[in-house]
Amino acid sequence: MSVIRLRNSSLFVWSPVALSHSLRRAVDALGPVHHLVSPNALHHLSLGEWKSAYPAARLYASPRLRHKRKDLAFDADLDDVPATEWADDIDQVVLRGSVALSEVVFFHRCSRTVLFADLIQNFPSDWYRGWRGIAARLGGIVAPNPGAPRDLRASFLDRRAARAALDEVFAWPIERVLIAHGDLPTTNAAAFVRHSFAWLLKPPGEA
Ligand SMILES: [Fe+2]
Repeated sequence: MSVIRLRNSSLFVWSPVALSHSLRRAVDALGPVHHLVSPNALHHLSLGEWKSAYPAARLYASPRLRHKRKDLAFDADLDDVPATEWADDIDQVVLRGSVALSEVVFFHRCSRTVLFADLIQNFPSDWYRGWRGIAARLGGIVAPNPGAPRDLRASFLDRRAARAALDEVFAWPIERVLIAHGDLPTTNAAAFVRHSFAWLLKPPGEA
């Protein structure tokens, strides 16, 4: 989960996690919660809890999430055009091309920070032990070789569409990156992002 305070002081909450009392206190100290955002259809489990806690906040659906979470009353859908409410602060692009998962990638202009949920994972090499460690390394989600899990990579049947979206990401002046799974890079965030998508930038046939 990440929280961005917009220029009008309202909060944009990205991929909200379970709302504990301490988390709520910390968030409330930052400003009023206006936007609850799911970056993809896997990061949605706590949206209902947050909407109940902040009924005036608007709830935004990532691709396919409305269908998956019919119990939630979404206010709007996310696409390639930033919502008017945050367009001055945050840019976004939907990374399409996968038959399994489309993720909305956001870029906070002021801090030059790009946010990824599942498309870049970077677990420390000792995070998983035994067979899980071997599976994670084979899965392509362990430092120093971060990326999307290999099963997700294989679901990108339309790589041209994915690369087109990625071109937009690379055009942002990235200085920082936030990811939902694993360690953040300590140097050169833009190179980290580019390295994480080397699998997608390779010519067809080279997985
Ligand atoms: Fe995830």
